[in-house]
Amino acid sequence: MSETLWRDVDSYFDEVLVAEDEALVAARDNSRAAGLPDIAVAPNQGKLLHLLARTVKARRILEVGTLGGYSTIWMARALPQDGELITLEHNPHHAEVARANFARAGLASKIQVIVGPAIEALPSLSGPFDLSFIDADKRSNPDYFRWALKLSRRGSLIVIDNVVRGGRVLDGASSDPDVQGIRRCYEALAAEPRVVATAIQTVGIKGHDGLAIALVVG
Ligand code: SAH
Ligand code: DHB
Ligand code: MG
Repeated sequence: MSETLWRDVDSYFDEVLVAEDEALVAARDNSRAAGLPDIAVAPNQGKLLHLLARTVKARRILEVGTLGGYSTIWMARALPQDGELITLEHNPHHAEVARANFARAGLASKIQVIVGPAIEALPSLSGPFDLSFIDADKRSNPDYFRWALKLSRRGSLIVIDNVVRGGRVLDGASSDPDVQGIRRCYEALAAEPRVVATAIQTVGIKGHDGLAIALVVG
């Protein structure tokens, strides 16, 4: 299996099924033009987040790590009229690009961007959130998971991006703090009786990576 084939299959899914509209394409294009790194979720992953939000009938969504707001738009589109999404981003430039993308998508009234380190914003939030998407600095995943859990209700979902990193997550001796953060987060998920969790590897336009999903049951 080659990376080219993974990408071609993702492109096929996007054409036949995912149906990004003009606002989503613009969010990606504007983000790239503004110099943001090209690390948003893939279109089919964005749509998965959208489907998960609809599945739990999310009225309130929390995101840690906004970038240009591509994943945010997919999730916010699953909200009812009076729903809200709070997204945390420490880079003011990313936040500014994201806000412009939300306005263009007609979602500005549903989305609040809080600029600053996520770990400082999280204690000021009140729950519950029906869906939390953790996608910022991976070294802090254990802290973000604990906060997402604290801000959840029974039945909430917590989704964590980039939990495989091309398989580097296997290296328990890694000196990479992001790998260590991902591994400690798995341990926290496994030890936490209030969640039922799994992880899935993905291949595609983002290479070999994966998602962890936890359902809050207690
Ligand atoms: N969720 C986005 C991608 C997020 S990329 C999408 O899929 O479309 C990760 C983002 O997290 C970057 O914008 C980065 O600036 C932000 N970030 C990194 N460390 C952070 C921190 N400590 N607090 C808040 N945001 C952080
Ligand atoms: C990186 C971050 C992400 O959230 C992602 O989905 C892919 C890559 C990164 O920091 O390299
Ligand atoms: Mg990510």
